[in-house]
Amino acid sequence: MTTLHVPIDRSSGIPLHRQIYDGLRRAILDGLLRPGQRVPSTRALAVELDVSRLPVLTAYEQLLHERYLDGRTGSGTFVSAALPDDLLRSSRPPAAAMREAGARRAAAAPPAALYEGGLGPFRMSLPALDQFPHAAWARLVSRHARAQTRAEMAYSDPAGLVSLRAAIAEHLRAARAVRCEAEQVLIVSGSQAALRVAAAVLVARGDRVAVEEPSYPGARAALSAGGADLASVPVDDEGMSVPALRTRGARVRAAYVTPSHQYPLGTSMTAARRLALLDWASRHEAWVLEDDYDSEYRYVSRPLGALQGMDTHGRVIYIGTFSKVLFPAVRVGYLVVPPPLWQRFVDARKAFDLFSPTLYQSALAEFLREGHFARHLRRMRGVYLKRRDALLTGLARHCGDSLTVHNADAGLHVAVLLSPGLDDADVVRHMTRRGLTATALSTCYAGPSRRSGLLLGFGGSTERRLLEATRVLGEVLRASTS
Ligand SMILES: Cc1ncc(COP(=O)(O)O)c(C=O)c1O
Repeated sequence: MTTLHVPIDRSSGIPLHRQIYDGLRRAILDGLLRPGQRVPSTRALAVELDVSRLPVLTAYEQLLHERYLDGRTGSGTFVSAALPDDLLRSSRPPAAAMREAGARRAAAAPPAALYEGGLGPFRMSLPALDQFPHAAWARLVSRHARAQTRAEMAYSDPAGLVSLRAAIAEHLRAARAVRCEAEQVLIVSGSQAALRVAAAVLVARGDRVAVEEPSYPGARAALSAGGADLASVPVDDEGMSVPALRTRGARVRAAYVTPSHQYPLGTSMTAARRLALLDWASRHEAWVLEDDYDSEYRYVSRPLGALQGMDTHGRVIYIGTFSKVLFPAVRVGYLVVPPPLWQRFVDARKAFDLFSPTLYQSALAEFLREGHFARHLRRMRGVYLKRRDALLTGLARHCGDSLTVHNADAGLHVAVLLSPGLDDADVVRHMTRRGLTATALSTCYAGPSRRSGLLLGFGGSTERRLLEATRVLGEVLRASTS
């Protein structure tokens, strides 16, 4: 039940019961109180308004009589669910009418799980949620929720909990060859937030940020929202072209790259290219934003260390996330910040949303410390390898004539190129109608020269589902070709 704002003016000559009646009626007509919503008891409202109970009882009786309110014996008083629509609409200001239209749309919309393709086959960026060690996680979250002290419920360090930062630093050093101390790890709400914070620190008015072409549209969005003027730099088989980057001018203050597993094409940046990029950064006193979003999974060779670990000049800002290794809704990501930039990053992070929720941070720290995380990663490598293989088998069996696999070496998605004449946006539209969720490769390009292809996520679907989905994709492709 909500508390209620009912304006009362004790100096006006209007009786209190009338003011309370008018206030509630107005709130109902304006949509501030919605049909079916519970209103406070007369006793509670009298206390809240600091009046005797009598005027509140009188106002409620009148509203019940006029059917603005419904009383349900034993369960309280509610805004009438049967208020005539035209009564509500005719007296409602535009903002209230908009809210109501929004509520109607939400009621008619599919469940929230279907946000942007939900759990559909080929949905990008989705890990195997069915394999997540839910019991261990739930045990830790509830243990930490129960044990939360008042200090832990108060405002917390913008940098994040020391326990989590230490556990992440340990993991990054061992698994990703990142050179870091816990003191450099800044916890944020996902890598999307990390990019916003980085842009806030590194980008001044008129500065440019080089971005891979093609690249992750979310990164472009975060960097431009942070004020960057984006400069696209093509990606070839070795990663971002450093010779092309050098031609983009002195205003380029930073380069955003995905060296372990280029998003979306899947290339991993060669050692020579990494050294050239680091050389560019140190000569130009520019920064490299390394987005290491799903590097933990590599199927053809050992995972490469992070670019950050090769950097001897402190020019790399490393960004990681738990979205792909745990689940996206956990909303925990992190940056590894070169020490001279540390305070500016903390200040910028604080300016955004102060700090990340401490309950998930403390549960996550223990999840790492107790070894659940390492175990989960190890197990998932096998799961994803099988899912990837099922996808490749299905593609070869059902879609071989219409596409070629561009890269399937790592990560949670396979990039395929469509045969000439097939428009990826069209194909994706047809796929959506058949219940498949895919991303058109062309949407990852900023410039006019775009390759037509599909990004097929395999992390979130079982092998059986993937095989079936490739059969349907084959039908879609044949229909689109003819
Ligand atoms: C390359 C890349 N960077 C960043 C993100 C954003 O991830 P997060 O959920 O950590 O904000 C994604 C999400 O799919 C991604 O693919």
